[in-house]
Amino acid sequence: MSKQVSVLFVCLGNICRSPSAEGVFRALVQKSGLEDSIKIDSCGTGHWHIGKAPDSRATQAARKRGIDISNLRARQFVAEDLDGFDYVLVMDQQNLADVTDIWRQSGGTRPELFLGYGRSRHQEVPDPYYGGPDGFEFVLDLIHEAGEGLLADIRERLA
Ligand code: 4NP
Repeated sequence: MSKQVSVLFVCLGNICRSPSAEGVFRALVQKSGLEDSIKIDSCGTGHWHIGKAPDSRATQAARKRGIDISNLRARQFVAEDLDGFDYVLVMDQQNLADVTDIWRQSGGTRPELFLGYGRSRHQEVPDPYYGGPDGFEFVLDLIHEAGEGLLADIRERLA
């Protein structure tokens, strides 16, 4: 059987940043022809938006770039995700602290900042929820760039 790699994107609400990351990264993976080798999912550390579709501003910003995230539904992070995914990629330091607390108890894949795979000076994908539309464009720019770095890392794993 060919190798498989799994990737989980984590933010707070799972309605803005991590579903955007899931959609953008899925598009990059499809373009590269690796969709049968890479499993992709997203979730949030918080419970407030469980079952909800992405924020309409995130959906619109992604659509402008040809990416449809409207069918995604929010779910909450669970400790078992640390066993189920090879990459657990969080958006900001608060997500990192929250998931690392759980990792210390349960082990599994150690969470890391998603932008560690990017080349920009930014370490965090800022929460766009309370800001204007520019914030959603910036989120997409950051995750696209980090997604390319992540894909290069995964290619090495699959090789
Ligand atoms: P996300 O954005 O973590 O990128 O999905 C947020 C969405 C909702 C809330 C905070 C952040 N909220 O407080 O409801």
